[in-house]
Amino acid sequence: MTIDMQETYRPKLHFTPAKGWMNDPNGLIRKDGLWHLFFQHDPDSITHGPMHWGHAVSRDLVDWEQRPVALRPDTLGTCFSGSAVQGPDGVRLFYTAHSLTKEGRDFQVQCMARADDAMSVFRTDPGNPILCNPGREVFRDPKVIWHEGTARWVMLLTEGQSIAFYASDDMTRWEYLTSFGTCHGQHGRGVWECPDLLELPFEDGMKWVLIVSISEDAPGGGSGTQYFVGQFDGRRFTNDHAPDQVLWLDMGRDFYAPQSFFDPGGAPVLMAWASNWSYARQTPTRAFRGAASLPRELSLTRTPDGVRLAQKVPETVTRAFALRRDRGTFCHRFVLDRNGARDVSIALFGEAAPHYRLTRLPGGCVRVTATRAEGHDLPGFAHEVTTELLWPEDQPLSVELYVDRGMVELLLADGTVSLTNLHFPAMPEGPLTLTHHPHTRTPGAPHPIAKGGQNG
Ligand code: FRU
Repeated sequence: MTIDMQETYRPKLHFTPAKGWMNDPNGLIRKDGLWHLFFQHDPDSITHGPMHWGHAVSRDLVDWEQRPVALRPDTLGTCFSGSAVQGPDGVRLFYTAHSLTKEGRDFQVQCMARADDAMSVFRTDPGNPILCNPGREVFRDPKVIWHEGTARWVMLLTEGQSIAFYASDDMTRWEYLTSFGTCHGQHGRGVWECPDLLELPFEDGMKWVLIVSISEDAPGGGSGTQYFVGQFDGRRFTNDHAPDQVLWLDMGRDFYAPQSFFDPGGAPVLMAWASNWSYARQTPTRAFRGAASLPRELSLTRTPDGVRLAQKVPETVTRAFALRRDRGTFCHRFVLDRNGARDVSIALFGEAAPHYRLTRLPGGCVRVTATRAEGHDLPGFAHEVTTELLWPEDQPLSVELYVDRGMVELLLADGTVSLTNLHFPAMPEGPLTLTHHPHTRTPGAPHPIAKGGQNG
């Protein structure tokens, strides 16, 4: 599929569909060394229309080759989000068929499709739906995992503001187990969507991480992604944290519906949709609309704030940012430490007003402010988010900034804080300016300390 790379806001090192709309990553799976990314797709328009599953593959998580559409709407409905697993008899895709009732209400059931060995033909199961609707308006986004402890398949589904767990021996008959979420984490006006569940090593044992996207009332407004750290015994998820503690996977505006790759034995890697439902349908692109975030490797780590997920951009991707850097596509890394910079602002795209300010305050506190100006009349686009984290005063604080023609991913504090934001600047290839604010109580004139689009 040929791609028009001339589009102003077409990123170079992020996946975008050649044409048409994309939202959530779906059915992420690694098979025979190939990374398969399916995604919510309307090939015929650049707005959210009748959902298909688009399909792309990569050997290195850098270069993606788009393949023909994998799933199309049928008599059961359009194909909403879901996942993929390698079963004993091949790869299976699980998705939600979405239709409307006579009264115009959403109606959602779970379906399955089988892939051929080459992952090029996907046959929907004649027994679809494999899981009927128990009477809920929101009942979607099946994420299937293999649970080693109980030797069963487990399916997670959103029920609105909670996550339901089902189990099966044969991936055909599914038994309801439990639900998690009431009174835990962020609720607000949002619908919980696109759950994921991963088991990660932590200190001398293992912990489970439940990832849940929420369609409204995320930190910067609109949609965002929260997570819970705890235990899962194959039936029930138990939160290790206080129910009212909210952990955000990303503090920016544009990191939604992330999903991890099914890749038993591999390092856990996830990708998200880099947009926000508040304005996703209006962003100023022409041939395509929507992009995937950079892939991120996940681990659990102890920080002064508690146990947190850490995200790391895989080596292959950081190397590509270094080798193929360009004005508008680069990575910039530095540290804030005791002797050097303790208070910097970062302005991008040749603009004067800073987009980020990072300040190490006395007592081990770090303040991070992300600012985005109005752009292209997008509703709710302008925003400012401030977050604070604890970081030992004597330890350097790492800052990694990935910039790709307006898409910006900032990973801080060894990846324990992440901010993903879209920008639609007048000059996506304009330079970056780092300004070092002297550590003084009286406001002094800022000193620019770096300029350019280098890989640091
Ligand atoms: C999340 C979501 C899912 C749904 C899909 C439809 O962004 O709303 O819950 O399956 O998008 O495209």
